[in-house]
Amino acid sequence: MLVIRLDKVTSTQDFAEAVYSLLYSEYVVVAEEQTKARGRYGREWYSPKGGLWFTYVKYNFPTDQVPMATLKSSLAIRQVLGKYVDARIRWPNDIVVNKKKISGVLVEAIAQGETSTIFIGPGVNTNVTAFPQGISATSLFLETGKEFNNDELLLELVKSIDEYLKIGDKEAIEEVNRYLSIKNEKVKIYGKDFAKECEALFVDNYGRLITDCGIFEVEDVLRLESS
Ligand code: BTN
Repeated sequence: MLVIRLDKVTSTQDFAEAVYSLLYSEYVVVAEEQTKARGRYGREWYSPKGGLWFTYVKYNFPTDQVPMATLKSSLAIRQVLGKYVDARIRWPNDIVVNKKKISGVLVEAIAQGETSTIFIGPGVNTNVTAFPQGISATSLFLETGKEFNNDELLLELVKSIDEYLKIGDKEAIEEVNRYLSIKNEKVKIYGKDFAKECEALFVDNYGRLITDCGIFEVEDVLRLESS
């Protein structure tokens, strides 16, 4: 597969989306450092040297499967990181270790009717040694004391993402519940015009979070914090 390696870029996601109409096979854009990386809802993503920042592009992806692709990609990342640390899913798509974020994934798609070009952008804190104040995050290095090989991990992650994109929705939801970090815990849920403290119970078959104070759709939640 074509792997485009960059020293420094604004965002691998932006780069991948800028060149997609010029390339016809699957490809990966990976950068040592990003200066304007983004997460869900345009949030900033801290991406210094040492981390693994990439976008994996797939063509002809069924458009009706795009909504579940974020959850399945998160599971794929969790599965790989779970070999080294106790990685769990903080609904909807954070991967956390001891409640600290170790990875997130931004999935975007450009539809061409029944199929889409899908841009899967994982950010994995592999060898990041410190985070700015106010960011509750961790890295593989901080958790294990070991340096990780980003090239090897990249291949493992792409393989795992491909595998997880093929699993059924029901299986994916079952696995999310198995690794749900917030199960039966009090969480703060922030939306555009609300902030609620609820007990998280489980994720239902539609991918919604069921709590003791209501049902939350992924699209309505901007941020979720452990209380
Ligand atoms: C999130 O947790 O909201 C998702 C964060 C995704 C960050 C990655 S880093 C590689 C790719 N390029 C970006 O600009 N964003 C994603």
